[in-house]
Amino acid sequence: MNKIVIKGGKPLRGEVYIEGAKNAVLPIVTSALLATEGVSKFYNVPNLSDVKIISELLTSLGVKINYNKEEKTLEVDARNPLKKEADFEFVSKMRASFLVAAPILVREKFAKVAMPGGCAIGSRPIEQHLKGFSLLGANIIKDAGYVELKAEKGLTGTTVFFDFPSVGATQNVIMASCLSKGKTILVNVAQEPEIGDMISFLKKMGAKISGENTSCLVIEGVEKLHGAEHTIMPDRVEAATYMIAAAATKGNVLVKNARYEDNVALVSKMREMGVQIEVNKNEIRVKNDRDYLLPIDVKTLPHPGFLTDMQSIIMVLTLLAKGVSTITETVFENRFMHVEELRRMNAKIRIEGRSALIEGGEKLEGTSVKATDLRAGAALVIAGLIANGQTVVTNIKHIDRGYVNIEEKLRKLGADIIRI
Ligand code: UD1
Repeated sequence: MNKIVIKGGKPLRGEVYIEGAKNAVLPIVTSALLATEGVSKFYNVPNLSDVKIISELLTSLGVKINYNKEEKTLEVDARNPLKKEADFEFVSKMRASFLVAAPILVREKFAKVAMPGGCAIGSRPIEQHLKGFSLLGANIIKDAGYVELKAEKGLTGTTVFFDFPSVGATQNVIMASCLSKGKTILVNVAQEPEIGDMISFLKKMGAKISGENTSCLVIEGVEKLHGAEHTIMPDRVEAATYMIAAAATKGNVLVKNARYEDNVALVSKMREMGVQIEVNKNEIRVKNDRDYLLPIDVKTLPHPGFLTDMQSIIMVLTLLAKGVSTITETVFENRFMHVEELRRMNAKIRIEGRSALIEGGEKLEGTSVKATDLRAGAALVIAGLIANGQTVVTNIKHIDRGYVNIEEKLRKLGADIIRI
């Protein structure tokens, strides 16, 4: 099994280029299933294992997929009828696979999709997705780990109020509404930038959607959608990872293809800690020469609040602050798996309920640590960059789900890091 081995203590310097966003490419490629005419083509598609899984899932549904790694382009031809069943094999590997429910349902009038189970960061129910489908007129039967959705006469627009702004439920119900009859109003939707990117693609396909970047969307159903071309937005979590790695190692890094408007919460918190950040069009420079940073309080929230995916990563930076920082996780109930591993590296962190109390200032010591999920893995890599001696990060298949060549990019910035 592959491992990442890091010798800590090298400041990062230079430039790093950010790839297309994993959390945008998965729903966007899935929405291409709605096209019964024409082929869709995507640019800036990152070569990640999650992209491979979604491609395999789409292929299993009878869709023609063509990925060009060098050019980072992906073509989706979904003109043939879709297979109506998505196996547990895919949904168990990647929860975002459940997003195929909407396109299969609206196109084929029936869908059978495996229900996602829990995962390392918490239980991941889907009742908000199902509530949306049901209000649009689908008949829902849960049976032996699968959910069957039926809409023999198609779906009809209505008002759907989400109990909270779930990203996946918003995406699934937007897709279903685009091909429903009449008008749908979605209230209390998630406003993550990746949803904005998906809406912009759907509009290119012929969808009629208004209200993007607000909590209420209005969608006029259309008869059919066609393939379109789209460039995937930059990955704000990958950008955050290199920004924090630069600050933590007391480096100076220009993060290219990173948008400030997607990372306002992070930039504000890093500035509050004393990190110097310069923002330009599509690039962010991060510099830090302070021996100690200032402590902060962070609470994860739906957008535009602080993104839960960056919580583990900023926790490593708070280990360099003089004083106690708090990080409160309100989105997932079990997203502190990295804390146990950071403690093994000498970090002083205590968990109280949904909050972590981090006492900064202790030097981290390298040791063997295990990536329990994608972002926990990224946090451990950054911890390795600032620890004394050697850190070995195992279970790195999680890291490969969301980072293209992380060790190569860090090595180019001056880190002593290899994959073995
Ligand atoms: C997406 C992101 C993930 C990010 C999360 C929150 C992708 C592929 N993944 O995940 O990286 O961490 O948004 O920003 O884009 N929930 C329910 N019922 C539901 C749906 C969700 O209780 O029907 C709960 C979940 O258990 C979780 C919270 O709501 O506690 C947030 O989930 P959601 O916003 O749906 O996240 P995902 O779409 O799974």
